[in-house]
Amino acid sequence: GTPAPAGEPAAPVLVIAHRGASSYQPEHTFAAYDLAIEMDADMIECDVQITADEQLVCLHDTTLNRTARDPDTGAQITGRVETYTLAQLREMDFGRWKGAQFAGQEIVPLAEQLLCYRTINPRMRFHIETKDPEGYDASMEELVVELLDRVGYVPDSPASPATSPIIIQSFSGASLERLKAVAPTLPTAYLSTPPANWQIPDAYDALSPSNGYIRSNPGFVDAMHAQGKFVHTYTVDDPAIMDQLLDLGVDGIFTNKPDVLRERVDAR
Ligand code: G3P
Ligand code: CA
Repeated sequence: GTPAPAGEPAAPVLVIAHRGASSYQPEHTFAAYDLAIEMDADMIECDVQITADEQLVCLHDTTLNRTARDPDTGAQITGRVETYTLAQLREMDFGRWKGAQFAGQEIVPLAEQLLCYRTINPRMRFHIETKDPEGYDASMEELVVELLDRVGYVPDSPASPATSPIIIQSFSGASLERLKAVAPTLPTAYLSTPPANWQIPDAYDALSPSNGYIRSNPGFVDAMHAQGKFVHTYTVDDPAIMDQLLDLGVDGIFTNKPDVLRERVDAR
């Protein structure tokens, strides 16, 4: 379980809704996030991209090709997210790609996600990924911190991944270093494979490799806990694999099916 000071109970395993409850609703839409809350997820996972007018939006891909459609014709929309303004993105449909029954879903700006769900459920927490940050001229880390500061989500003192309302995750170690330079109190999670010697840099508060890595390195979770690091892992929808990871002592699991993970976690 979670590294806790001696004598204190371990924190519960975090149910992290990957792109919302994205197995059932189109990823990164209000419908997917609403369902994650309904399914009692602890955190919403959110990848961010930057628009032409430097707004942060909740999208996994750097291009629109996979998930954006013309609302009138259903035609695919192509091109990099950064070439469209937020106003232009608001004109597009982000549900229809998953099926006609999901049509009508809109782009979600990160600011609206944070403010909306903090109001609906003040306990909701956010696992925000700086996605392909080196692909942008603007500093994604500075934009994220500016926004978090504006909505009151930058903690005054260093926050633990076990309890913080915000965790910043990235495959880019350099991004987490830049993030810590501007907001040292925000906790971080590193998504790439850890260094071979498992000596973890100070800039990473949690390690968050793939579930395959953790299952093929069964000593990894305990080794991280011994260094005071937390372990989250992605992306698991299979209940048997969830059980295996829970047995190994992970602190959080990203899943497209938060209802399935919630049941496994609560059964323990
Ligand atoms: O952020 C955890 C997991 O989502 C990483 O993979 O490609 O789905 O962002 P990806
Ligand atoms: Ca992600």
